Amino acid sequence: MIHFTAQVVPMESVDADVVVIPVFESELTSPRLMELNKTLGGHLKSALADAGFKGKATDQLAIHSLGKIKASQIVLIGLGKKNECDLDGLRKAAGEIAKKTKTLKQVAWMVEAGPTKGLSLNGMASAIVEGFVMGSYRFDRYKKSDKDKVKGNVSLTLCLAESRDIDGVQIMMKRGQLLGESTNLARDLANTPPNDMMPDHFVKVAKDLFKKTSVEIEVIDQKKAAHYGMGAFLGVAQGSKSDAYILILRHRPQKSAAPIVLVGKGVTFDSGGISIKPGRAMSDMKADMSGAAAVLSAMNVIVKLGADINVTAIMPLTENMPSGGALRPGDIVTAMNGKTIEIINTDAEGRLILGDALSYAVQEENAAKIVDIATLTGACSVAIGDLASGVLGNHQPLIDELIKVGRETGEWLWQLPLFDGYLDYLKSDTADIANASEAGKAGTCTGAKFLEQFVGSTHWAHLDIASVMKCPNTKGYMVKGMSGAGARLLAEWVMSQAAKVS
Ligand code: BES
Ligand code: MN
Ligand code: ZN
Repeated sequence: MIHFTAQVVPMESVDADVVVIPVFESELTSPRLMELNKTLGGHLKSALADAGFKGKATDQLAIHSLGKIKASQIVLIGLGKKNECDLDGLRKAAGEIAKKTKTLKQVAWMVEAGPTKGLSLNGMASAIVEGFVMGSYRFDRYKKSDKDKVKGNVSLTLCLAESRDIDGVQIMMKRGQLLGESTNLARDLANTPPNDMMPDHFVKVAKDLFKKTSVEIEVIDQKKAAHYGMGAFLGVAQGSKSDAYILILRHRPQKSAAPIVLVGKGVTFDSGGISIKPGRAMSDMKADMSGAAAVLSAMNVIVKLGADINVTAIMPLTENMPSGGALRPGDIVTAMNGKTIEIINTDAEGRLILGDALSYAVQEENAAKIVDIATLTGACSVAIGDLASGVLGNHQPLIDELIKVGRETGEWLWQLPLFDGYLDYLKSDTADIANASEAGKAGTCTGAKFLEQFVGSTHWAHLDIASVMKCPNTKGYMVKGMSGAGARLLAEWVMSQAAKVS
C-alpha cells in the first residue's frame, strides 16, 4: 500500500525518511539549494562537486542530512533542462525514486511553488504520483521466496512551498494514483502466466473490477458469437480447449449519445496455431492480450473518474492454439460482416478476432468512433523499435488527437501509412480477402488495412502496441516485464473527448 498526501511544510520539519528535491540542469545555485547548503553547513556544495551532479535527467545524489533536518536523507534528482522537462520527465524521476522504497518508507517530495515551464501544479501532482506508482510495480505474486518482496506501507508526501489549493492537489494525486494503478493492472494481466489467464479468468477479473459500479457487463459466448455469424473469431477459438468470449463493458452516463468504442485484442496465448511460432520468446505471447488489458484498465479510470461520455469496451478473448480442431492454412471463414477470409497464416489471428469485434462495434453498438489496440504485428518493432507504438486509421483528426495525448502520457505513437494499394497485398484467389500477404511486406500496414475492411465509414484508429508490449529493462517508471502500454493513453484520450462534449 502507498499512502499519498499533500502538505504545506518546510523541508526541515517534514516527517519522512527522505526528502526528494528535484533539480534542473544548471540550476545548482537556486535559492532553495543555497539555503539548504547553509543548513547543512556547506556540505551540499562539496557533495555536489564530489559527485559531479549536474541535474541531468535521472542524475541522482543522496546526501546524509547530518541531523540538520528531520529526515535522515536528502536525495537530489535531476530533471534535465528546465525548458525541456515535461510531465513525463517528472513521471520518470518519480519512478526512479519509487525504487528506493525497499529501504525508505516515508518519502517527501518538494514541489516548486510556481508552475514550471507551463506545467501546472495539478498536472505535476498527478504525474509525480503516476510515476511513483508505476515505478514501484513488481510482479512477485508467483515468487515463493519473499526476500525481494517489498513489505509494508510506503507514503509519499508532496511538500508544497506555500499555501495553495491543497484540496485540488489531493484530487490530482488521487487521479495520478488511479492512472498508475490501472497501468499496473494492465501489467499484472499481461504478466500473469497463460495457464492462469485464460479467457474465463480475464472475464472474472473484469466482473470483480466493476462489481460495485454502474457498468453494464455482457459476455458473448461461442454460441452467441455463432448467432452473430462471427466466423473469424470462432475460427481462432476452435483450436483451443478453453472457451472463448467477447467481453463487453458499457459506461453510459449520457442517455442516448452514440458511444466511443474501444476494442482490445485479447489473445491470452498466441502459439501461432498450425502456423506455429518458432520457440524463441514464445512465452512472451502470454501478453498477446495486452490490448484487452489496456482497454479494461482504461475503463477502470474512465468509470471511476465518472467521465461524462458514453463508452463501450469490446474485448475478444481467446487462445490461439494448434490442435486437431484448429484452423488450417487454406481454410475459409465467413466474418460477421459477410466477408469471406482465406486463412493464409493461422498466426495472423489478431486481425481475425478484431475484424468481428469491429463489425460488432459498428453494427450492434452504433459506434460514434472506434479506437482499437492490439499486439498485432512483430513488424511494428522492425519498423519503429520499442520507442513508440504504430498508429494508423481512416480519420486524420482522430489520429492527431491520439498522437497528442500520447506525447502527454509519454506513450509515443508514430503514424504509418494505410495506402489503398496495401489491399492488393491481401488478395485471395479463393475468398474476398486473405488474412496475410504471402510476401510479408509492410506487415503493420497490411494488418491495419485488413482491419479497415470491418469499420465501414466509421471514424477509426488502430494502435499496434506489439513494439512496446514488453519493457526490456527497469528504467524511470518502466519495470522489466510487460509494460501495461496504452491504458493511460486510452483513458486520457477518452477523458479529453468527454471534456469536448460537456
Ligand atoms: N501476436 C503476434 C504479434 C507479436 C509479435 C506481438 C511479437 C508481440 C511481439 C501476432 O498475432 C502475429 O503473430 N503476427 C504475425 C503476422 C503475420 C503472420 C502476418 C507476425 O507479426 O509475424
Ligand atoms: Mn499470431
Ligand atoms: Zn497474436
